[in-house]
Amino acid sequence: MAEEPLSAAKLELASKTVQQLIIDGKLPERYFYKGSDKGTLDASFPLLDLLIVDVSLLDTSRDELQKLKSALSSCGCFLAINHGMKAEYLDKVRGITKKFFAFPKEVKQKYTREVHSIEGYGNDMVLSEHRTLDWLDRLYLTLSPKDKRKLEYWPEFPQDFRETLEYYTKKVEGLIEILLKAMARSLELEDNSFLIQYGDEAIMTSRFNLYPPCPKPDRVIGCKPHADGSAITILLQDKEVEGLQFLKDDQWFTAPIVPEALLVNIGDQIEIMSNGIFKSPMHRVVTNPTRERISVAVFGIPQPEQEIKPVAGLFDETRPKLYKKVTNYVDIYFKYYYQLGRRPIEAVII
Ligand code: OGA
Ligand code: NI
Repeated sequence: MAEEPLSAAKLELASKTVQQLIIDGKLPERYFYKGSDKGTLDASFPLLDLLIVDVSLLDTSRDELQKLKSALSSCGCFLAINHGMKAEYLDKVRGITKKFFAFPKEVKQKYTREVHSIEGYGNDMVLSEHRTLDWLDRLYLTLSPKDKRKLEYWPEFPQDFRETLEYYTKKVEGLIEILLKAMARSLELEDNSFLIQYGDEAIMTSRFNLYPPCPKPDRVIGCKPHADGSAITILLQDKEVEGLQFLKDDQWFTAPIVPEALLVNIGDQIEIMSNGIFKSPMHRVVTNPTRERISVAVFGIPQPEQEIKPVAGLFDETRPKLYKKVTNYVDIYFKYYYQLGRRPIEAVII
């Protein structure tokens, strides 16, 4: 009798964390990447020439604002320095991330996500039989609004995990507000033009990523190419191990590491609000044969019922509106990205 194909739910139940696969010495077929990305996966890629933006100057310096605008309208990302968090503090955030993933599975099990639910600890979600899985384990937590937190998934080990994350949440929230205002000013708009759509009850989520060393870095991808569905993403990169790459002029470039900097990229929702002036960049993560890599991404996401649309002043007869207004973009995002494997923003192009 022919074997029935396993449903995605059953595959989910049967699947393991990447850390566990390594212990078991297994590399399931589902991890072999079938994408037709430019170039191979493990070759060395040129470094991306990222602009460095001094956040403390954005209020007073036209040059710094110009730099911000130029970065976001070319590659959609930049390195932020003087962002209000000390280098030692960023190390602490990296530290709690590494320590959490380093605990034995019995300790982490308590925080394991439910099948087909994103919140909590686990491997890449298996949503379709056909999609290549990412070579990473992650801990996904909602940070704000506070009443949306699911504290049962917030690690109690290492002991300073929760308080460190609490403080990080507050600081990143402040940083996002400063950046959204500066982004509007850089386009000669009122300070609040993006913030009004972003909302004062925006959702912030965090994704702690662990990319374990991979035995087949030329065949397996850490994180498949995607643009973020957020409005804005603040990424704390590993201090030593590169892996993140951005697509620019149809070529992959490796994001450089600057330990005291945060990597900021805009997501699709700011691309929509800016009527395409700011670009939500395609990016991916490649794996490393010998070294593990961590990263912490914080996504700033407007509430689902919030209408997202091009800001007045950024379209006219000569520059038509490029995007339809949209609510609940994250839903569209997951449908397109996970189920169809396409760029979600295509769904709202006029
Ligand atoms: C993401 C992402 C990059 C990284 O989580 O959306 O792109 O370096 N992460 O882990
Ligand atoms: Ni991303």
